[in-house]
Amino acid sequence: MTAESVIQTAYIIAALLFILALAGLSRHESARAGNLAGIVGMTIAGTATFGYALLNSERSPGLTAVLLLAPLLVGSAIGLWLALKVEMTGMPQLIAMLHSFVGLAAVAVGFASYLDTEHNSLAHLIEVAVGVLIGAYTFTGSVVAFGKLSGRMKSKPLMLPNRNLLNLVMLLAAVAATVWFAVAPSVWPLLVVTVLGLALGWHMVASIGGGDMPVVVSMLNSYSGWAAAAAGFMLGNDLLIVTGALVGSSGAILSYIMCKAMNRSFVSVILGGFGEGATGEGVARDYGEHQETSVDEVASMLTSAKSVVITPGYGMAVAQAQYPVADLTRRLRDRGVNVRFGIHPVAGRLPGHMNVLLAEAKVPYDIVLEMDEVNPDLSETDVVLVIGANDTVNPAALEEPDSPIAGMPVIEVWHAGTVVVFKRSMNPGYAGVQNPLFFRDNTVMLFGDAKQRVQEIIAAL
Ligand code: TAP
Repeated sequence: MTAESVIQTAYIIAALLFILALAGLSRHESARAGNLAGIVGMTIAGTATFGYALLNSERSPGLTAVLLLAPLLVGSAIGLWLALKVEMTGMPQLIAMLHSFVGLAAVAVGFASYLDTEHNSLAHLIEVAVGVLIGAYTFTGSVVAFGKLSGRMKSKPLMLPNRNLLNLVMLLAAVAATVWFAVAPSVWPLLVVTVLGLALGWHMVASIGGGDMPVVVSMLNSYSGWAAAAAGFMLGNDLLIVTGALVGSSGAILSYIMCKAMNRSFVSVILGGFGEGATGEGVARDYGEHQETSVDEVASMLTSAKSVVITPGYGMAVAQAQYPVADLTRRLRDRGVNVRFGIHPVAGRLPGHMNVLLAEAKVPYDIVLEMDEVNPDLSETDVVLVIGANDTVNPAALEEPDSPIAGMPVIEVWHAGTVVVFKRSMNPGYAGVQNPLFFRDNTVMLFGDAKQRVQEIIAAL
């Protein structure tokens, strides 16, 4: 077996492990195994690539090793530091930032691969231009998404006049520059492609309102995969092509699922320039008075309940209430109460946010249900505890066609006997709209920090 074939075999094994990782990550029970498969795959891929570079470098092996290891160590150290430091609530902006690096890397690979190749074939030139365009788009798009998610940029959509026409003109100009590059290769048309990609990414994501940013982050995840696949074509690296395509297609599928969960059109996300309504005001309505409750009342309600559903949201993450919530769940189940969780697909600030928190607190997977599984059972439920959730339980989405969140599927908690809403004030949630649930006859509000309130309920029980 030659060294080359060992490397190719390692690449195939790594690609299979990446596929296993994705399959594993799609279910709670197998997520850890999936993650492990990904780590092993990445280690094999990294080692094989290192070996390949050592074998094929024109420099001395020592110098090649230093050139590869130095940036690897610096990058890994920064990545480790960020991963340890980041709060769960800051994850979306970190992910956006990481996507921007993939985009930047694709641009750098594009330029290097063009300048480094003596006789660029037509196919290679097109690969380079397309890779650079997607990479530049992903870079600025992700930087803007990072800015909006971290509050460094205004989350309102930038509404330039004729923005769709502007996007179309930039895209056509990028195609023209690609043709120019293919016909008369030089750095200049490639620079034009880069600038147009940067401008397109910036403008398209800036045109999207903060409310729709989660779909955008997932879309950029997909683009970063395609940028990596394009880099794979440029470098002739099969593993990078496979991995990029896996990331690209799984990101696109996730975006589609999220679009459905938020009632957004998939096509308008791809084209950019949407989300104006998501943080809009809707029509101000008077829903009447809300009722407040106390810790003792909630404790006695739970004592006499047979069936309880907990719907967590972003506020549970902010309060870090998942541990006392898991404790409360255990105690209620020990008393014979049927406790289940109802998870909305976009509860929190990133896909799977609530599932990760609940898994961290060791809530059994089999009682964590999805929105579609829990909705039919809610009319049979005695008490629903809404812990730091708001938009995801808002009946206006179904009942008020003029609401900015109209059409978004929600957890229909109001069908239960009593709904207890844990939050600190009457302030609206992420979409900025009032929630008529809070004013219903069978809803009571328990104000205060969710973690503290749940701990008090446990003490009262
Ligand atoms: P939200 O609608 O944002 O509501 C969270 C609620 O938690 C707020 O009403 C807030 O009320 C309350 N809260 C905050 N801190 C709290 C604390 N310490 N104790 C108790 N309550 C607290 O959350 P949601 O229902 O999870 O909906 C998610 C929203 O975010 C959707 O609009 C979704 O589209 C959007 N979004 C989702 C994602 C993904 S992919 N999951 C990503 C980005 C955005 P008070 O301030 O009154 O306490």
